[in-house]
Amino acid sequence: MNSLRPVLVVGASGFVGSRVARGLAAGGRLVLASTRHELPDRVTVQAGVVPVHSPETAALPDAVRAACAHAGVPLPGAVVASIGGWDKGAPLLESDPDRWSATLASHLTAHLDAARALAPLLGPGDPYVVLNGAASREAMAGSGAISVTGAGLAMLVQVLRLESGQDRPPGSGPAVRFHELVVDHAVSGDGRNEDPAQVRTPAQVVNALCELLDDPAAPAVRHV
Ligand SMILES: NC(=O)c1ccc[n+]([C@@H]2O[C@H](COP(=O)([O-])OP(=O)(O)OC[C@H]3O[C@@H](n4cnc5c(N)ncnc54)[C@H](OP(=O)(O)O)[C@@H]3O)[C@@H](O)[C@H]2O)c1
Repeated sequence: MNSLRPVLVVGASGFVGSRVARGLAAGGRLVLASTRHELPDRVTVQAGVVPVHSPETAALPDAVRAACAHAGVPLPGAVVASIGGWDKGAPLLESDPDRWSATLASHLTAHLDAARALAPLLGPGDPYVVLNGAASREAMAGSGAISVTGAGLAMLVQVLRLESGQDRPPGSGPAVRFHELVVDHAVSGDGRNEDPAQVRTPAQVVNALCELLDDPAAPAVRHV
């Protein structure tokens, strides 16, 4: 990836997204930190971080273009989607149906909406990385909706990757490359994880992410 083009981090207000945005910037990358709400200073007051604020995903491409023009930087050369998060509550059969619908919207549909809006900003061969968690691979009691949306998200990335490579004119180069980065353990410092058996540091997540961003031949799925 051309490091002069920024990395757009979607979900930069979140626990992982904020640390990813800071970590990428600390490593010398230019970061567009995108949120639905105004970002806290701990994310934005840092060299190399350009805030992008858009309450609606559909309006995000225009907000990205405006932020890039205002900051005098190129359009993004990569997207990192850190949308969703953790949830623990009642067993699925006893859980509130509205909560199920809300989790589908925030943990799965939001990713499709983001990819629809943002993949067209990228060029051939540019990476689009979706973060996912352990519940996508392991059924977790009390976090059923997260397990189901996480598993669906893994398949969503596969389908996007497959479809992005189809119908490309001969000689037009590689398509946008979709990847899934599965963080198999709690990220250290997140108090929502009760007594985790193992943790991954934000630096480990950022390092794994950078491998995906920088290697055009990186695998579709990487675990950290
Ligand atoms: N935290 C961990 O220990 C951990 C461990 C392993 C994997 N992960 C993975 O990391 C990713 C992010 O998790 P997290 O813990 O950082 O979650 P989080 O702290 O709850 O943050 C979630 C982010 O998603 C955004 N978001 C939610 N619904 C959205 C929507 N409909 N449209 C756009 N943005 C939306 C939120 O924005 P608002 O602030 O506007 O609501 C927020 O920025 C997930 O894939 C998760 O599985 C996390």
